[in-house]
Amino acid sequence: MRTLGIETSCDETAAAVVQEDGTVLSDVVHSQVQTHAPYGGVVPELASRDHLHNIEPVVRAALARAGLGLGAIDGIAVTCRPGLSGALLVGLQAARGLAWATGKPIVGVDHLVGHLVAAFLRFPGAEVQEPKLPFVALLASGGHTALYRVDGLDIRAIRELGATRDDAAGEAFDKVAKLLGLGYPGGPIIDRLARGGDPRAVPFALPMPQHGSFEFSFSGLKTNVARWVAEHGIPESESSMKDLCASFQRRVVDSLVSKAVRATRNERLDTLVLGGGVAANRELRERATRVASKYGIRVIGPTLRACTDNAAMIALAGSFRLARGDDERTTITMSPHTVLASVTRKGPGRRGRPLREGQRR
Ligand code: KG4
Ligand code: ZN
Repeated sequence: MRTLGIETSCDETAAAVVQEDGTVLSDVVHSQVQTHAPYGGVVPELASRDHLHNIEPVVRAALARAGLGLGAIDGIAVTCRPGLSGALLVGLQAARGLAWATGKPIVGVDHLVGHLVAAFLRFPGAEVQEPKLPFVALLASGGHTALYRVDGLDIRAIRELGATRDDAAGEAFDKVAKLLGLGYPGGPIIDRLARGGDPRAVPFALPMPQHGSFEFSFSGLKTNVARWVAEHGIPESESSMKDLCASFQRRVVDSLVSKAVRATRNERLDTLVLGGGVAANRELRERATRVASKYGIRVIGPTLRACTDNAAMIALAGSFRLARGDDERTTITMSPHTVLASVTRKGPGRRGRPLREGQRR
């Protein structure tokens, strides 16, 4: 079974062809980074216009690289939520058009489920460590940061254990990079700079350290960086900039790793799967692996290129449903919200008590 995946939920126009066993036949991503970089973040209207320009060539390229015509595709999977409405609509309409023109079935995929299955993708030449179900997943991207218990690769089998109350981890990387005048997107830039810095140089407080909580908060840490900059100015030397980046990143990683490992132990599982753009972060991958191994927990992250937004993960998530015979040609709709239920109360720490271990809201 070969699925054509289409992804346009944010600032990447992507298409891919993937087999049901996860083998990636093609994976094309057109990044809009240059379009949004001058603004330090994604401008929704510019994103939609750019998708309109690129969707057709990107889909054509994905089919050409797979060496397949549309006729050889068994179904289409398209991101239908969550994301920017105007951006989602471009991919959705393109996918619907193709489905109607070819008579192929189509399914809408929740982008977050795509990130959660990315570790199952098999890229040619890349080593695969396939996760075994059930597992705990840490999804950390520019729009979302949450821990899930995953019993199956279907929305009904995925349960949130805790999420961020405010900024997503990737958003914090992007905002701090913007504040420091480092460019966009901030994650990969800070990741690179932090490698040469001293993470103990600036002792930022650990966000939401409450022992029993699986919720995150990154806006306070971002404010602490802004306060430090207001007091000391933007570091002028490269070494102090590296120290500042390393100190900030250390706290983000501390928070993500400690809660992810604790959640995995709390669920009595032995596999922790990473997903989302922040899962490309070197310190996060290394430290998660090291800390988890003390408890006999295996950490599996997608190949680096599958951490950030791509259509291969959307194709794979959709292929399981297409294989079951699902077809949403007449019913597919889009939404800016995820379909995964949240147990996390958004907003500042004191308004609601954080979840304790074993407790549900
Ligand atoms: O998953 P993704 O491509 O898009 C969303 O669904 O949001 O994630 C993008 C986010 C951005 O905030 C970016 O700064 C962050 O992932 N990111 C990283 C790294 N690479 C990308 N954050 C930390 N370290 C990285 N190496
Ligand atoms: Zn994403």
